[in-house]
Amino acid sequence: MQLHVADHPLIRHKVTVLRDKRTPSPTFRLLVDELVTLLAYEATRHVRVTECEVETPLTSTTGTKIADPAPLIVPILRAGLGMLDGMTRLIPSAEVGFLGLKRDEETLEAVTYANRLPEDLTGRQVFLIDPMLATGGSLVAAIEYALERGATDVTCVCLLAAPEGIDHVRVSLGDRADVKVVVAQVDERLNEVGYIVPGLGDAGDRLYGIVDL
Ligand code: PRP
Ligand code: URA
Repeated sequence: MQLHVADHPLIRHKVTVLRDKRTPSPTFRLLVDELVTLLAYEATRHVRVTECEVETPLTSTTGTKIADPAPLIVPILRAGLGMLDGMTRLIPSAEVGFLGLKRDEETLEAVTYANRLPEDLTGRQVFLIDPMLATGGSLVAAIEYALERGATDVTCVCLLAAPEGIDHVRVSLGDRADVKVVVAQVDERLNEVGYIVPGLGDAGDRLYGIVDL
């Protein structure tokens, strides 16, 4: 698993405003959208492309286009839906699948209530989007659905992550798949009811930049 923590002052600024309990909902939505677009730029660094010919006003030349099959973007419902526009703005040709996962707030286990993924994901780049990576149960379940359909190239885009959730994803996957997780910020820890506690803590300081875990 490769973890990429955004190292950019604009992202840190926007996360701070996002957290502010006084931030009104329209601003919150706008910030999520902006953050996703910034993270998507990084998350799509290795999107598959092919060469193509393009006719310019002067001459024809060789250009680049996103390869077939088009990437698949999968918001994890419900909160992941708020990140969809930001992703598709950068890759408008992407297809969209949906996973409905609900965290049981007693057991903290992920419960699946909807699965609208294509049956065959062989050769598809898959982008899973969900704002919160807390215990990691939901993200691991989503990654497993992608892997069991043949995906080998999975990138997860999250806004906030807890160190415990990152570890859970890493341990659950082991050597089975090369999954990339791109996050705006790694927070301090989970609290006793599995919610992410804000703050950088040791993990935030340690996990900065790109880390192979
Ligand atoms: C939140 C969040 C993640 C999950 C994270 O969704 O969007 O999907 O919890 O928790 P985990 O890492 O411990 O699994 P929630 O289950 O609250 O559903 P919702 O988006 O429909 O509110
Ligand atoms: N949902 C949230 O909103 N926060 C968490 O930390 C976990 C699930």
